[in-house]
Amino acid sequence: MNVSVFGLGYVGCITSGCLIEQGNFVVGVDIDNNKVNMINHGESTVVERGISEYIRKGIKNNLIEATTSESDAVKKSDIAIICVGTPGTEQGHLDMKNIYSVVEKIAKILSEKNDFYIIIVRSTVMPGTFSNIVEIIEKISNKKCGDDFNVFIMPEFLREGNAIHDFYNPPYTLVGYDQMEGIHIVEELFSFLSAPLIRVDVKIVELIKLISNSYHALKVSFANEIGRVCKKLDIDSQLLMELFKDDKLLNISSKYFNPGFSFGGSCLPKDLNAFNSIANNYTVEDLTAASQLFLTVASSSMISAVALDIPVILYDFTQINYIDRYQYTRSVKRVFNLESMKIAVKNILLNVDVRKKTIKMQRHRIKPFAILDGKCTERNASVIMSYLSE
Ligand SMILES: NC(=O)c1ccc[n+]([C@@H]2O[C@H](COP(=O)([O-])OP(=O)(O)OC[C@H]3O[C@@H](n4cnc5c(N)ncnc54)[C@H](O)[C@@H]3O)[C@@H](O)[C@H]2O)c1
Repeated sequence: MNVSVFGLGYVGCITSGCLIEQGNFVVGVDIDNNKVNMINHGESTVVERGISEYIRKGIKNNLIEATTSESDAVKKSDIAIICVGTPGTEQGHLDMKNIYSVVEKIAKILSEKNDFYIIIVRSTVMPGTFSNIVEIIEKISNKKCGDDFNVFIMPEFLREGNAIHDFYNPPYTLVGYDQMEGIHIVEELFSFLSAPLIRVDVKIVELIKLISNSYHALKVSFANEIGRVCKKLDIDSQLLMELFKDDKLLNISSKYFNPGFSFGGSCLPKDLNAFNSIANNYTVEDLTAASQLFLTVASSSMISAVALDIPVILYDFTQINYIDRYQYTRSVKRVFNLESMKIAVKNILLNVDVRKKTIKMQRHRIKPFAILDGKCTERNASVIMSYLSE
């Protein structure tokens, strides 16, 4: 199929690479000239295992090109996949302006296009996005949703650091729809996925990515709180959490997940209070000096933080449940650079006295390393882990 991909950042580059691997033709669009040039020179715009090879092959086989011209892209495609950034606003909303700007441009071109056109949104969105998009397109193009075009919301669940694997192996692929027209084309485009494609009311799909990430945030914070209490009690939090996770009947399961009545009974309230009182008794401070130090160091370079003193700093990472995107990306972007990653890991290895023993200890302590960020919670931890285990 002929597909245009709007936004050649993380999601867009992976989506483009994986779609051309499946024999589709992709026109990538970005407002960033550098990214467009990179793709046209056969280079990936992101560092991710395997993706450079896909893009290089795609250029060689004329299966991908990139442009800053939306018009060019829409004319050459039957489907547009929107993967532009939706950053957080000061009010805590997602800023949808990139999506609406792309949609306005597509709508202008649709007014001159006769073929049925499909728009898929893979960016993470706010509730109401589907209706807004349809309204914008109908108003600008004078075309009718269902007759001339259709819009589907399809959240992406990939994790940076594992993106190609996650793209091909999602838990499921949700197709949020309001009207059926063209849905079979979308299903055909993604028919190479083994996990099911599930048709769902678009309003549910608009919210599910935010719900999923909120839950991941809850898990990170919960694990860190347990880690902090355990530290005070001199208990191995890794072992405790491994055992906790082994219970797939109640703990890691769909139990206790139905909105409705409150929790109660003979055990939950008293045991929750007991754990809270333990935490209070052993006072778990908010940010210790070590975590403050981490925040300062991390804003200049995550790598140097890691290379400085892994055991001490990582130990206190459990104090931090949240680090804002600005600090996080500034520090973590370097981790993306695999060369600096290698140098950093080499530094770590050079700095330890009894190699194996200490590496084991580092690995042990890296595991609870859980800095929360909407962009990618586990990315740097998994990259570090993969290098340490080599
Ligand atoms: N990164 C992830 O792991 C991940 C996973 C799932 C979903 N998402 C969601 O996917 C979306 C994209 O995330 P990302 O990480 O790829 O973002 P990103 O910042 O890496 O890339 C976004 C790209 O969109 C481009 N862009 C912005 N406005 C544009 C416009 N008007 N026309 C064309 N291109 C434009 C930017 O130049 C940039 O290259 C976000 O909504 C994000 O929340 C991200």
